Amino acid sequence: MATPPTAFVAGATGYLGRALVYELAQRGARTVAHVRPDSSRSGQWKERFDAAGAEILALAWEHEPLLAALRQLRPTHVFCTIGTTRKSARVEGLQGSIYEEVDFGLTRLLVAACTELEHPPRFVYVSSLGTRENSRGAYLRARWRAEEAVRTSGLPYTIARPPIITGPGRDEPRPLERVGAAVMNALSRVGGLLGAQRFAARYRATDAEELAYGLVHAAFNYTTIDRVLEAEELRYRTANDREYYLPKSRRDADRH
Ligand SMILES: NC(=O)c1ccc[n+]([C@@H]2O[C@H](COP(=O)([O-])OP(=O)(O)OC[C@H]3O[C@@H](n4cnc5c(N)ncnc54)[C@H](OP(=O)(O)O)[C@@H]3O)[C@@H](O)[C@H]2O)c1
Repeated sequence: MATPPTAFVAGATGYLGRALVYELAQRGARTVAHVRPDSSRSGQWKERFDAAGAEILALAWEHEPLLAALRQLRPTHVFCTIGTTRKSARVEGLQGSIYEEVDFGLTRLLVAACTELEHPPRFVYVSSLGTRENSRGAYLRARWRAEEAVRTSGLPYTIARPPIITGPGRDEPRPLERVGAAVMNALSRVGGLLGAQRFAARYRATDAEELAYGLVHAAFNYTTIDRVLEAEELRYRTANDREYYLPKSRRDADRH
């Protein structure tokens, strides 16, 4: 790459956000990890992200400071992996429409700041499997509204709809997530055995490293601009990769 890209990661302290920061930094992008200014663990994050070669930016979730910081950074890519859960909203004392306020509200805020930049960045939004226009449930409805905010922003975008994201690196246990992943993995195995490989690749649980790989791969690929990607396109090995060139012989392979 002639000029390394600059990536801003919102939600960098989350399970997925961290993996994304590491993946981006490892691939040579200037990576800026956003941390809440009141985070009790900001010292720890600084140490971890410094070690990975990423920068840390503590910034309030307000339009003006966000816009000023983004104007200075001039990001080529903005990743949004923000999301709350009932448990963390309870700990923070949030009440009422928590997904509307956090998942949709903060995404919209970030999108709005990006649209005011002189050079609009590519906006990579992490939504969720199952998000549809008439989704039932507060979580998926907020996801749809956030997707719509991204889609109608005029920014180049990529929306990802991952399945359950689980793995050993999570700070909290989340037993329901693990049970859900086991069920989806069992169904996917059956689907795979019956030849439904795309179904299996869409519903099988993923972990933060695989998803971070898939997101970064998609974010730096022009074929994924202004597209919504389901999980089969966010794996280490995607259905599309298998359709790419396969050498017919050793001699062909040597030519590439
Ligand atoms: N987990 C799954 O199975 C799954 C499946 C599909 C899609 N998703 C979506 O994928 C994304 C990443 O998931 P994840 O499991 O990595 O999430 P996570 O570990 O819970 O991280 C969430 C991130 O959002 C931030 N955040 C939460 N509430 C906030 C608030 N009120 N104000 C500002 N920041 C706030 C957190 O910051 P702090 O660290 O400061 O709290 C953290 O950086 C989320 O949007 C999630 O909804 C998750």
